[in-house]
Amino acid sequence: MPPEEVPLPLEPYKIKAVEMLHRPSAAEREAALRRSGYNLFNLTSEEVFIDLLTDSGTSAMSDHQWAALMTGDESYAGSRNFLDFERTVQDLTGFPFVLPAHQGRAAENLLFSTMVRPGQMVPNNMHFDTTQAHVLRQGAKPVNLAVREAYDVRAELPFKGNMDTARLEGTLRTEGKNVPLVMMTLTNNTGGGQPASLANLREVSRISHAHHVPFYLDMCRWAENAYFIHEREEGMGSRSIAEIGRAIFDLADGATMSAKKDGLVNMGGFIATRDASLVPRLKELLITFEGFPTYGGLARRDLSAMAVGLREATELAYLEHRIGQVRYVASLLDQDGIPFMRPPGGHGLYLDAHAFLPHLGPDELPGQALAVEIYREGAVRTCEVGGVMFGSEKPEPGSPPPLELVRLAFPRRVYTASHYHYVAEVVRRVWKRRASVGGMEMVEAPERLRHFLAKFGPASKKGDRGHGTPSPSPPELQSRGRSNA
Ligand code: F0G
Repeated sequence: MPPEEVPLPLEPYKIKAVEMLHRPSAAEREAALRRSGYNLFNLTSEEVFIDLLTDSGTSAMSDHQWAALMTGDESYAGSRNFLDFERTVQDLTGFPFVLPAHQGRAAENLLFSTMVRPGQMVPNNMHFDTTQAHVLRQGAKPVNLAVREAYDVRAELPFKGNMDTARLEGTLRTEGKNVPLVMMTLTNNTGGGQPASLANLREVSRISHAHHVPFYLDMCRWAENAYFIHEREEGMGSRSIAEIGRAIFDLADGATMSAKKDGLVNMGGFIATRDASLVPRLKELLITFEGFPTYGGLARRDLSAMAVGLREATELAYLEHRIGQVRYVASLLDQDGIPFMRPPGGHGLYLDAHAFLPHLGPDELPGQALAVEIYREGAVRTCEVGGVMFGSEKPEPGSPPPLELVRLAFPRRVYTASHYHYVAEVVRRVWKRRASVGGMEMVEAPERLRHFLAKFGPASKKGDRGHGTPSPSPPELQSRGRSNA
């Protein structure tokens, strides 16, 4: 089948401030890899040309957000910025109780410390690593109940972020009393940025509530999820992103949010709930760990930037361009048959490292090897989402084989179409010399949150395959469709 023709994503903004980039030479890239222990989290930003490590806290703020920063009323308690922020979250979500936190994992700490006890289990479509770490920290067990297709990189389906509702029903029937909450992550970050449908969310809500279990959302990328519903779910095309968002939130009892994603800020988050009985305990923890409930670890001006960002994230022109950028890069890679999680996700494109480097076994960390190689080729920083991030957790018996992905996360409103042409070219160059790419091994392996903290080296086990030869300088930008052969 010929690759789908995807339009050039036309930026719906113009640029007001610029930040110059440095393109490191091959020798600088090689030295940076050695210095960082082959862990791309240890690179300095000056060692990186295009940074697709994460879409979290890396957005460009709008002129309206910068203007909002100047309206900061830095009162310790009862600041008008908090009231503005609180009203915005209440309007968008319908949740009456809103507590700011400095980022998503702080909100997770509040929620799980309040609701989860040792020995319990928490079902999710797929836990993100910090969510998983917080469940484990409470002595509880995180259980991933995503539909089976979520693990099938090639399945071209609209809602691979869905939860398997039969398994949820089964789990709650046998373990219901031991389940303090059910959670859905929108979109499913560790499963390729795939969305859940409104129909599936409705069913998850119904089943959870039938078993008297509260239903919470990890709403980091809720606007992107709502965009996919708008585009793909029957009857939703005429509804706005905010309306669809509200339909989603109406099904849930509360949510945690990292506003570093669909809040379009560099730092911020919150927890919101309908459950008044949780609020005193949440506030107590908030004051202990974050700050007074009207600032929650943030400057008051940041609360207003977050309020503006949360609304901007619901604009259709913004979302069309954003998700269009991911699709555009996917279409460029498709021209060479480069394997990635299909369909392209909301906040990134996830390369399938098993299929990209089929000569490497799981113990040779193909995801890490591919991420390193993409950096080596063109100073593009990506992130492994596979054996390194999740490998220390034992898979459930009978569960599908784990995913081995390399995420190209797209920062919001930061890079242009020509930057993404360059990225596609770098990945294509690695693809062309993929047979010569060697594996990696972990030389320092902490028990948890390994992908942030581990150190690696070229794998020694399988002999002298060695690493591929990087190009002496990063590739020049090439026009779409031009053959590189
Ligand atoms: N939940 C999901 C689904 C996330 O993707 C993240 C962060 C968090 C919670 C935690 O939020 O970083 O504000 O504390 N994801 C980032 C990423 C780190 O790169 O995907 P946080």
